Amino acid sequence: MKNIVILISGRGSNMQAIVRAARNEQWPCRIAAVISNRADAEGLQFAAQHGIPAEVVVSKDFATRDAFDAALQAVIDRFAPDLVVLAGFMRILTPKFVEHYAGRMLNIHPSLLPSFPGLATHRQALAAGVKVHGATVHFVTAELDHGPIVAQAAVPVLPGDTEDALAERILVEEHKIYPQSVRWFVEGRLSIDNGLVSIADEPQLA
Ligand code: GRF
Repeated sequence: MKNIVILISGRGSNMQAIVRAARNEQWPCRIAAVISNRADAEGLQFAAQHGIPAEVVVSKDFATRDAFDAALQAVIDRFAPDLVVLAGFMRILTPKFVEHYAGRMLNIHPSLLPSFPGLATHRQALAAGVKVHGATVHFVTAELDHGPIVAQAAVPVLPGDTEDALAERILVEEHKIYPQSVRWFVEGRLSIDNGLVSIADEPQLA
């Protein structure tokens, strides 16, 4: 059984999608803990209701990024994670923290990386006039929103779209590709070679 620790900052809908899929599809894993950097994160209630240990490490309480990341790492490592899943975790992480979880930390970003890293991705997409937009699951590396790509989903950008409309359309896809990616990891099917991810037993072109 692989241990998964999920980090959230708010609503936690991706976390919920992963927990539900793991249970419904009986993945060989345990959702060992959900950890938030905000005490008021809505997702904490879902975790508690589903019998998942829920912890809070309040980022505001720490004077430096290093101090927060060290405290967070100590809490995460109590659960001996095979995989750390960032699910709407709105913190920039220090290189030291990222290195500690190299090859075993995933993130979801609401754009088709490498387009539109950073914040306000839907605003960036609308301003650029792109006709497709989407979401990316990637391994986390020290460079923000740049790690090896595991999965992507695209949606059309429609005339009259707003940031909210785009976010909603993309979230539906996030809830498919994030559980799928975590499942691949749990099944030991992901490998990284030279910054590129291979998925074992994926259908190949003839
Ligand atoms: C998602 O759009 C995710 O891609 C982004 O923040 C949002 C989090 O939503 N990083 P939720 O907390 O999973 O509902």
